[in-house]
Amino acid sequence: MPFKLSDIPVLTDKIILVTGGNEGLGKESVFQLATRSPAKIYLAARNPSKAEAALSEIKERAGDNCAPIQILNLDLSSFDSVKKAAAEVIANESRLDLLIANAGVMGADGVTKEGYEIQFGVNHMGHALLIRSLLPLMQETAKREGIAVGETRCVILSSGAEAFAPASIYPFEGLKGDLASTGMWARYGISKMANLHYASQLAKRYPEAETGVRFVSIHPGAVVTNLGDTLNNWPKIEWLIKKVGATLFMLKPVEHGVRNQLWAATCSDGSGLKKGPESGVYYHPVGIAGKGTKMAYDEGKASELWEWTEKELQPYLEV
Ligand SMILES: NC(=O)c1ccc[n+]([C@@H]2O[C@H](COP(=O)([O-])OP(=O)(O)OC[C@H]3O[C@@H](n4cnc5c(N)ncnc54)[C@H](OP(=O)(O)O)[C@@H]3O)[C@@H](O)[C@H]2O)c1
Repeated sequence: MPFKLSDIPVLTDKIILVTGGNEGLGKESVFQLATRSPAKIYLAARNPSKAEAALSEIKERAGDNCAPIQILNLDLSSFDSVKKAAAEVIANESRLDLLIANAGVMGADGVTKEGYEIQFGVNHMGHALLIRSLLPLMQETAKREGIAVGETRCVILSSGAEAFAPASIYPFEGLKGDLASTGMWARYGISKMANLHYASQLAKRYPEAETGVRFVSIHPGAVVTNLGDTLNNWPKIEWLIKKVGATLFMLKPVEHGVRNQLWAATCSDGSGLKKGPESGVYYHPVGIAGKGTKMAYDEGKASELWEWTEKELQPYLEV
């Protein structure tokens, strides 16, 4: 049975955080979830004026149905910003039910504040620190009375572009730099492979049966959003490129593309799609497992990424 947005259940009492909530798939996620009566949604964004504009738009669309939404300042290219955002949530909430690690950058050059290749740094490292910082609160949430095992969830946005990751993954020394010797698509592919490997490792190291928390990664499909706008260096033909690209690659509108992450975040066995997601699994839209590349299921590579990431994050997790 195909999953429809109307299958998203009522989310009474839930506290939700969506990164990159000001645009594209993140903004649509916030809107859809805001109409299902959660206690609060944190719309995390790096640009306050864009966040305010998104909030006004969401409130107008949702009307009287809109749940409380709070803007959370979060720049994933800075560990300091990630730590501050996590601390704000922890200080203000006694629970966190859903964390959708949605924000992403594609087609950029350079490094993050801590010196990681920009796509790997934002898409993977920033999210990894956010998730690890908020995990204790999520584990507490999962233990609450009336919360089913696996109802507390962390959904990480990966991409079919994981297929662009080079066989030499992970070039850790280069990733602590701009990795300029590697092409842009390969670098984006590495970051998206890291997203799905990290979700599978979280599931392994924090088993759902013990922690109650479920970790899922997804590919949303090819969706018309602002992603990759940095690729267009010729503004006059930007519109044409988008139009032609959308037709050529059969890009889907955002209301369609958002379904996989919302299914992964909210669907339980027996609702919508007959089966909800399983912890550690990577899904193509909607709810289809087993479609990743061979490397996506490489436990050794995933484990290497986990160990290295843990070492890098350790100083920031201790303070
Ligand atoms: N669209 C697709 O076809 C597609 C396909 C596969 C996977 N995905 C994945 O889907 C996710 C959402 O992308 P989208 O398509 O919705 O793109 P989008 O419209 O460009 O939205 C990306 C969001 O990420 C935010 N972001 C970028 N860098 C950030 C940073 N340093 N700190 C905090 N937030 C940051 C952006 O904020 P600003 O507005 O401030 O830039 C924006 O809110 C990404 O992880 C992407 O890899 C998309």
